[in-house]
Amino acid sequence: MMKSASFKLVFALFLFAHIVRSNGDSTFENYNQINLTQGTGPESIAFDCKGEGPYVGISDGRVLKWTGPKLGWKEFAITSPFRRRNLCDGSTNSDLEPLCGRPLGLKFNTRTCHLYIADSYFGLHVVGPYGGVAKRLATSAQGTPFGFTNGIDIDTKTGIVYFTDSSIVFQRRDVDSLLRSSDRTGRFLKYDPYTREVTVLYDGLVFPNGVALSANNSFVLVAESTRFRILKFNLETQAKREDNAPQVFAELPRVPDNVKRNENGEFWVALNPGRSGTAPNDVPDPVAIKFDEEGKVLKRLDGNGGITLNAISEVKEFNGKLYIGSVTKPYVGILNA
Ligand SMILES: *[C@@H]1O[C@H](CO)[C@@H](O)[C@H](O)[C@H]1NC(C)=O
Ligand SMILES: *[C@@H]1O[C@H](CO)[C@@H](O)[C@H](O)[C@H]1NC(C)=O
Repeated sequence: MMKSASFKLVFALFLFAHIVRSNGDSTFENYNQINLTQGTGPESIAFDCKGEGPYVGISDGRVLKWTGPKLGWKEFAITSPFRRRNLCDGSTNSDLEPLCGRPLGLKFNTRTCHLYIADSYFGLHVVGPYGGVAKRLATSAQGTPFGFTNGIDIDTKTGIVYFTDSSIVFQRRDVDSLLRSSDRTGRFLKYDPYTREVTVLYDGLVFPNGVALSANNSFVLVAESTRFRILKFNLETQAKREDNAPQVFAELPRVPDNVKRNENGEFWVALNPGRSGTAPNDVPDPVAIKFDEEGKVLKRLDGNGGITLNAISEVKEFNGKLYIGSVTKPYVGILNA
C-alpha cells in the first residue's frame, strides 16, 4: 500500500513538472519558446539599444517586437509601402512575399538605435526607433538589382553596413532550387551611409548568406551556404590588396545560415538540416556551432534528433540566453547560453 502511494506521489510530481514545463521540449534542459500568434518564420533576431525585444522578421512581411507575455507581439515595421494588410497580415504563403515583403537579416546600429533590415525582395532598409514604414536605402549594386537580399551586420564606428545578395537569379521563395543549383551569382556588398553608395566587395559566391563582423571590425565572416563553409574577409588588408580573396574560416557538416557574434567576440553559426554528422568530434545532430575568432570550435548545439530545433536559421546570444530563429517554425526558441 505504502509503496504504491509513494509511487503515485512521485508520478504526480513528475506529471506536474511536465505541465509546468509544457512550453518547453523535455529533450532540452531549460528550453522555452515564444510562440508567434500570426505568420511564421522568425528568421533573424535583434535587440534594440535599450535591450528590448526580441525583434523578428516574419513570413507576412512584418518586423515584430516582443513586448513581454502580457502584451505579446507588436507590429514594429514594414518594408513594402504598398503592402496590402488584408492580403498580407498573417500570411504564410511564400507566393505573396514579392508583394508583402520578407524581412531576413535584422541588425540595430547601437549608436543610432536605427534598425537595418535586409528584405529579401525589396533590398536594404532602415527604420528609426519608433518603427513604421522603413526607408529603402538600396536595391541594386553596379547596375544589377539585388535578387535575394539576406544577411547583414554593421560597423557601428563607421556606420557601414555589410550585407549579402544570395543570388541575382533565384528569389527567396525558390531557396530550395538555389541550394540544388550551382548558381554563383551571389554577392558580398557594403553600403556607406554617407555617400549612399553600394560597393560589391566580392562576387561569384555560391549562396552567400549570414554576415558577422569581428569585435574590432577587422574582419567579416560570410556563410557560403551551398558550399558548407564560412569565409573570412580581412577588412584591414583589403584596401591595400588588389585581390581581396577570402580565406576559409570553417568547413561545416551542414548548410550554414546566419552568423551572429556574441559579447565575447565569438560567433554562432546556425545550421540547416541536410547532410549530417560528417565532422570529427561532432554531436549526433549538430544544429549550431560556436567558434572563436580563430575558427576553433567552442561548442556544438545538439538538436537531439527532434523537430524543435531542426530548422534553425540563427542563434543570437543575448544576456546569457540563446534566442533561436527559424525560417519555417512559428516560434523563437530559447535556451540558456
Ligand atoms: C506554444 O506552442 C506550443 C506548440 O504548439 C504549445 O505546446 C505551447 O503551449 C505554446 N506556448 C504558449 C505559451 O502558448
Ligand atoms: C583586431 O582583432 C584582431 C584579432 O583579434 C587582431 O589581430 C588585430 O590586431 C586587431 N586590430 C586592431 C586595430 O586592434
